[in-house]
Amino acid sequence: MDINLVDKDVYARDGAPHDQFRWLRANAPVYLHEGEPDRGWPPFWAVTRHADVVHVSRRSDLFSSSRRLALFDEMPEEQRELQRLMMLNQDPPEHTRRRSLVNRGFTPRMIGALEQHIRDICHQLLDEVTGLPTVDFVRDIAAPLPLYVICELLGAPVEDRDKIFNWSNQMIGADDPEYSSGPSAGQAAAAEVYAYANALAAERRERPREDLATRLLLPDVTGETLDENEFDLFVLLLVVAGNETTRNAASGGMLAFFEHPEQWRRLLADRALAAPAADEIVRWVSPVNLFRRTATADTVIGEQEVRENDKVVVFYGSANRDEDVFADPEVFDIGRTPNPQIGFGGGGAHFCLGNHLARMELRVLFEVLAERLPRLAQAGPARRLRSNFINGIKELPVTLT
Ligand code: HEM
Repeated sequence: MDINLVDKDVYARDGAPHDQFRWLRANAPVYLHEGEPDRGWPPFWAVTRHADVVHVSRRSDLFSSSRRLALFDEMPEEQRELQRLMMLNQDPPEHTRRRSLVNRGFTPRMIGALEQHIRDICHQLLDEVTGLPTVDFVRDIAAPLPLYVICELLGAPVEDRDKIFNWSNQMIGADDPEYSSGPSAGQAAAAEVYAYANALAAERRERPREDLATRLLLPDVTGETLDENEFDLFVLLLVVAGNETTRNAASGGMLAFFEHPEQWRRLLADRALAAPAADEIVRWVSPVNLFRRTATADTVIGEQEVRENDKVVVFYGSANRDEDVFADPEVFDIGRTPNPQIGFGGGGAHFCLGNHLARMELRVLFEVLAERLPRLAQAGPARRLRSNFINGIKELPVTLT
């Protein structure tokens, strides 16, 4: 089989290349994938089985995150520098200190306290589109929800939401003219978010509140605290990591329900299924397709030897359809239990900080949709994002009644 896991046209047309993934899992689960040497992009080991993705994710001593996580190094130098400073791109022990400081804001209790706010936001978004003949599910529901939730989490005032939403779109789609006016607009927006976070922190230091921002700025039990720069970078990471991922999970989940109407009917009959449905949606969609690591020593993945400095790319979308782990992996089943999906990462140091929050957003959204819009229907084709990194949907027209 011809293998090309980087061709963005394939992702834009079909979503993830599941035929190739299936073939690789069966025939070459750790596969040496071509790079593009004339553009300075090295070859990489494509890791497609669940067990191997988990292994690479958990062994951050052997597979470093600090040498650029995306497939190829397409970004300008200044942007790369900014990325380097973010927790996502750091290894222990540097990473460990920051992660333990931010974990305090994401305990199940802190996140649980947000449920009613999330429900209110879902109702408000639906109120705004009620009565319209067709709406774009992405623009009107899936995109604003996670961004408004992050604003709520930070305690940003409601009147700032549109501004932050706009910055986040500029950053997310820096190479997509439909979202953004270009990479420099993306960088300018990142600088705005950074400055916004800085001002927010100054405000909270002066007038502490019951919100995540205040909590993260306070010293922990050992007296450690995030410094100003670390706080600002963390807010920037939240806006990037918590936003597009959840947006695409919600839109991809909606599309999955349209393509499997019997699962929608199951949800309407039993809204308690919204909880397992959230995990099944993350498995099915795998909104983050891949992350890259760099081997820190000669080692093995499965039966394959890899060398120090080799690039290793884990494909979550493939691991989430591994027939050794999931019965009928090609079936979208909202009642699937157990569901050891690894769309939030394969475990280990970088496992998604926002996983409880994202699950709650998806559960509440689909509970509210099932309650208020049982006749929701697709009104036109979905348009997919042209990206091999994010499995995204740009537009999904729907009718509400
Ligand atoms: C990390 C997926 C939602 C914040 C990650 C990773 C993945 C991921 C694959 C990397 C895991 C690894 O390298 O092992 C997702 C998906 C989401 C989602 C699929 C939605 C369905 C969120 C939300 C937030 C968030 C809502 C916060 C509001 C983060 C952060 C990291 C991260 C801060 C970096 C953690 C670290 O480096 O220690 N996420 N995520 N994510 N995610 Fe999420």
